Parts: sequence; C-alpha cells; structure tokens
Amino acid sequence: MSTPYDPAKEGAQMSFDGRMSYGDYLSLDMLLNAQKTWTNTHDEMLFIIQHQTSELWMRLAIHELTAARARLLANKPHEAFKMLARVARIFEQLNSAWDVLRTMTPSDYSAFRDELGQSSGFQSHQYRQIEFMLGNRNKAMLRPHAHRPDVLAMLEEELSQPSLYDVALKTLGQRFDLPKEVLNRNLSEAYTPHPAVEAAWSEVYRNTEAHWDLYELAEKLVDFEDYFRRWRFNHVTTVERVIGFKRGTGGTGGVSYLKRMLEVELFPELWHLRTAL
Ligand code: HEM
Repeated sequence: MSTPYDPAKEGAQMSFDGRMSYGDYLSLDMLLNAQKTWTNTHDEMLFIIQHQTSELWMRLAIHELTAARARLLANKPHEAFKMLARVARIFEQLNSAWDVLRTMTPSDYSAFRDELGQSSGFQSHQYRQIEFMLGNRNKAMLRPHAHRPDVLAMLEEELSQPSLYDVALKTLGQRFDLPKEVLNRNLSEAYTPHPAVEAAWSEVYRNTEAHWDLYELAEKLVDFEDYFRRWRFNHVTTVERVIGFKRGTGGTGGVSYLKRMLEVELFPELWHLRTAL
C-alpha cells in the first residue's frame, strides 16, 4: 500500500498558530455565519446565498465604478476603461447566477415567502447606489432608507456628485460645445437627453479615428449598459417564472414594475444615435 500523499513535504504550511490563515484573511467566520434562515424549508438557503453573493458583487461594482469615475474626472480615460470592462464582467457573472436561482420552483418559494415580510431587493441600498452612480436618479427611491440615517446620507451624498454619465459628458464637452443646461445641470435630478449631446456622440461615431478615446469610452459605457439590461431582463423573467403576476413583497405590482424598469436608459444618447448613423 502506498503512503498517503503529504503536501507538507513540498512545503505546504500546515500549522497556523499565530499566523494568518485563509479563514482569517477572508473573515470567513463572519461571512459563513451570515446565512441565517428563518424557516426549515430547503430552498431558503439558495435564496439567501443568491442575494448575498449578488450584494458582494455589487460591492465590488461600486468599488470599480467609484474608481472609474474618479479616473475619468482626472482625465485618465484609459485607466477608467479597465475598470468599466471589469464592471461589465461582474454583471455577466450576476447574469449567469440567475440560472442557479431558476431551479427554485413556485412551490419551493411559496414555502418560505411569507417569512420575508415586506423585505425586497427594492430596498437594496447598494443597487440604488449603483443606479445613482450611473445616472438613473430618482429621489423617490430614497424613501425606503429613511429609517437608516447612515444609508440615507450615503445615497444623498451620491446624488450630490456627478454620475458616471455626467463625467463622460464633461469629457465629451472638452472637445465639443455642449449646452450649459447639460454641463451645469441639477445633479440630483434625472438626466434629460439633449440633441446637442446626441450630435456630439454621433460625430464621434462618424469619425472614430479622430475621436478614438471618446469612441472607446462610448462603447465601454454601452457594453456595460448592455449587461445591465440583461440583468434586469433575467430578473423580471425569473420573477415571472416564480411568482407570476403576484404583487412584490416590497409592495409594487411586481412584474409590471420590473417591466417598466426595462425601459430605463442609463446613457440615452449613446443608444439613440445608432438609428441615424
Ligand atoms: C425568486 C427570486 C426573486 C423574486 C421573486 C424577486 C421579486 C422582486 C420583485 C417583485 C421586485 C419589485 C419590488 C417589490 O415589490 O418587491 C423586485 C425588485 C428587486 N429585486 Fe428581486 N426578486 C428575486 C430575486 C432577486 C435577486 C437574487 C436579487 C439580487 C440582489 C434581486 C434584486 C432586486 C432588486 C435590486 C430590485 C429593485 C429593482 C428596481 O427597483 O429596479 N432580486 N424583486
């Protein structure tokens, strides 16, 4: 009989008295103790982990978007491109994750749905922060966070800063004349598309050689929004598959609300210009 393989022979560290281990570095005790189920149903663990992992990926998305916006503001677009490409991949990852959740049937979900109370992803402050950071701004979405002054302050602070699209338009405005109402707009309000912005982006697409950096920026934004749209679509389809047209636990019409959200355009002129090009 051969002796069992011992990885210590090739140098694997086996003793962690006083040394940082994998679990220490990753705070695994905290992380793996956070899956508190409220029922004894089998699928609740899937539901919780699916949401928690989504929140973790959103945390990274916020980290990357914060840095991308700062790099664009500092006129370092190429550094921002790398981060924007990563955020698109994060959403691709989140899109694939729906396949796991889709294995939960309406019967599986209804076994624990009542325990959720009024809680819903609608109250995800990280999701709202991402939307505000990108440019989809609606002050009404602050209200579910009124009971958490720290979260409310963070979201209000976000609304006082230029969104990623505002910063992209500032970059565009360095080469093209853009109206003051675009460049000095009230940042906390929703952005209204402007013909001058569409004309400027169209020129970038017509003359890519001359405006390669802006062209690359535009395509990075569109690429990201493409993945984001797929996330919304996967969400609404999964929701319809699991709860049909029932109202959401968060109180909206459910699928009808989520279908409405499919119409959101984060970077509107970048989509509109394609028709006339
Ligand atoms: C079976 C699984 C799911 C169901 C049935 C479901 C259902 C819903 C419904 C009905 C809404 C509309 C608000 C409401 O009235 O509750 C909503 C919103 C939302 N859900 Fe889910 N959801 C599911 C999974 C997920 C997962 C895995 C995530 C990941 C974090 C998520 C994140 C969100 C977010 C961020 C919103 C707000 C969307 C917006 O305001 O545009 N949901 N969900």
